[in-house]
This record gives sequence, C-alpha cells and structure tokens, in this order.
Amino acid sequence: MTDTPPLLSVRDLSVTFPTPRGPVRAVDTLSFDVRHGRTLGIVGESGSGKSVTSLAVLGLHTGAEVTGSITLAGQELVGLPERELNRLRGRRMAMIFQDPLSSLHPYYTVGEQIAEHHRVHFGSGRKAARERAVEALAEVGIPEPRRRSREYPHQFSGGMRQRVMIAMALACEPELLIADEPTTALDVTVQAQILELIAQIQEERALAVVMITHDLGVIARVAHDVLVMYGGRAAEHAPAEALFATPAHPYTRGLLDSLPRLDDRDDAPLRAIPGSPPSLLAPAPGCAFAPRCPRAAEAPDDERSHCRTERPALGGPAGHPVACHFPAYEGVAP
Ligand SMILES: Nc1ncnc2c1ncn2[C@@H]1O[C@H](COP(=O)(O)OP(=O)(O)OP(=O)(O)O)[C@@H](O)[C@H]1O
Ligand code: SF4
Ligand SMILES: [Mg+2]
Repeated sequence: MTDTPPLLSVRDLSVTFPTPRGPVRAVDTLSFDVRHGRTLGIVGESGSGKSVTSLAVLGLHTGAEVTGSITLAGQELVGLPERELNRLRGRRMAMIFQDPLSSLHPYYTVGEQIAEHHRVHFGSGRKAARERAVEALAEVGIPEPRRRSREYPHQFSGGMRQRVMIAMALACEPELLIADEPTTALDVTVQAQILELIAQIQEERALAVVMITHDLGVIARVAHDVLVMYGGRAAEHAPAEALFATPAHPYTRGLLDSLPRLDDRDDAPLRAIPGSPPSLLAPAPGCAFAPRCPRAAEAPDDERSHCRTERPALGGPAGHPVACHFPAYEGVAP
C-alpha cells in the first residue's frame, strides 16, 4: 500500500491568524500523507489545530497566512485561485462536520440539497440530479430514500442527518473525505454505525479519509495511521498499531491513559491530563508540553531545563517519528 504515491501530501504546513493581540500560529510546520483506501486519524485535544489543518487542505482560510505545500494528486493547492479550489471542493475532496444541521439548509428538502450539489459539480439536469440524490440516500442506508428525499433536515434524527451529510459529501464521488468529529454528537451505537458506514464506502471506492477526533477510541476503530497533534504541531506520527502498542510521546501516553477501561469501577475518576493547552499567542521557547509533562517532571535538572529551553524536532525512526527529547517507545499493557 505504502508504495503507491499519496493522494494528499502536506509538507511544512503553517497557518497563522493575525489577531489584535498578535499573530496566532495555529498550525506549525505540519507534514503528512494520505493514500487511496487509507485513513489518517488526526487526534489532539481542543485547540490543537485539527480543524484549522483540515480547513487549510480545503483552502477555506481567508485572512490567514498559509505557507508550505498541500498537493492533491500532485496538484499544488496552496495559492490556487478560489475558482479552481471551488471546483475541487465537493468534486475531488469533500468534508463532513460534527454538526450536520449547521451544514444543511433548513428550508430545502434533503433531496433538493444533494441534487443541487450534484448539479453544480456535474452540470447534470434537474431530474437526473434528483435521481442521483435518491441513490445517494439509499447508499448511506436511509430507508425509503425516495420518500425521505422529500423531507426537511429537521425531520431526520441526528444519526440520519449525519448519513445525509455523508450522502451529500459522497454524491460527487470525491477521492478524499475529511471528517471533522463526525460522530461526537451521536450516541455510541449510532457512532459505531456511522464509522462502519464510512469504512464500508471507503473500501468500495478506495477513498482516502482524514478522520479528525479528540477520541482515541474512534481512532482505534478506523485509522490506519495516526498523527497526534499538540499546540499546532505534530507530537507523534505512526501506523495505528505501533502508536497503540508503543506510544513514545508522553502526551500520547497521557491520551491513552485517559481512555476509560473495561475494568474501571463505575465511580472511578476520569484520568485527564492535568494542566491546560499551551498559548499559541506567545509560545514558550522549549517543548510546548513541558509544563504538563510527567516525564520532564521526574527528570534530572539538566534534562528538565533542556525540555524548557529547546523545542524538540520531530525525529526518531522513519516510520514512527516523535517530537520529544526523551522519547520512550514503551509497550502498553493490554
Ligand atoms: N479565525 C481564527 N482566528 C484566530 N485564531 C483562530 C482562528 N481559527 C482558529 N483559531 C485558533 O487556532 C487554534 C486551533 O483551532 P482548531 O479549531 O483547529 O482546534 P481543534 O483542534 O479543531 O479543536 P476542537 O477539538 O475544539 O475542535 C485555536 O487556538 C483557535 O483559537
Ligand atoms: S521534550 Fe521533554 S517536556 Fe517535551 S514531551 Fe519530551 S520529555 Fe516531555
Ligand atoms: Mg475542531
């Protein structure tokens, strides 16, 4: 699989927002690849830059400085005129969001919305586009798709609305799907169904998927490769199996430790990572995770001061790089 060229290739991507209090670098020199038929999971806590990354891929940042390179099937997207980006969005790459209601128009039936999307990208006639909408609803498992295509978004449950969003995203047969927290608002059973649906469609179409989530449980279910983000940068990047078996960065380790376990008592407290995310306005000189890092806290003074003064670069084994001065490729008890 890895010898096929990547569909999406991101190199040294940085996104900086000008704000009244100074520039905010929300994404800093990030690099990753996604191939056809593979899922890259991007995980990190709130504010780590996951959504800013995905919006940059779609070219949706206006007013921000975007540097680096983003190529889709070899075509450079950074600096592409808006008209050309518009053609690619929806047609070759599509996105689904956490809250389908914010992306669906309340006054149009779901069939009209999917059909319109199809018409815009394929120039198909009204009737053909309507038929495609019914087919797309059937493909995502909506029962009685013809009748339901004539209903409005508020007549669908949360899980069904997310299916509608997936139908809309996939109606134009994109090659890349970016899913930003697509199941966060859903209960666990519906969440599992939606993840299963995305995986099934991915297999049928060799879709490249970027799955963004703060939930390592979701990553464990669907991702082939995982990028852990902290403070806008890559903390660790590895095939999913390696990341779960031998997490090397203390932050990844903390995320894994905060997952609920089957043998937890019902009243056991959640093991959150203490402290808060770093400021992006005035980043400290050393490792962004240093104030919260248990490994640094236990280290001798000279090592600790190294953590606080020098920013660790992403390095280590080619297949499993980590941004930490003292990485520990530790085995995790099952
Ligand atoms: N338009 C903007 N102007 C200034 N700062 C922004 C803008 N958009 C995002 N940011 C900042 O960039 C950082 C990363 O935001 P982003 O939305 O990517 O986080 P996230 O990882 O998706 O978090 P969440 O899990 O909460 O969705 C945050 O600190 C956010 O405040
Ligand atoms: S560089 Fe130091 S502070 Fe940063 S994660 Fe590694 S051990 Fe912790
Ligand atoms: Mg987000």
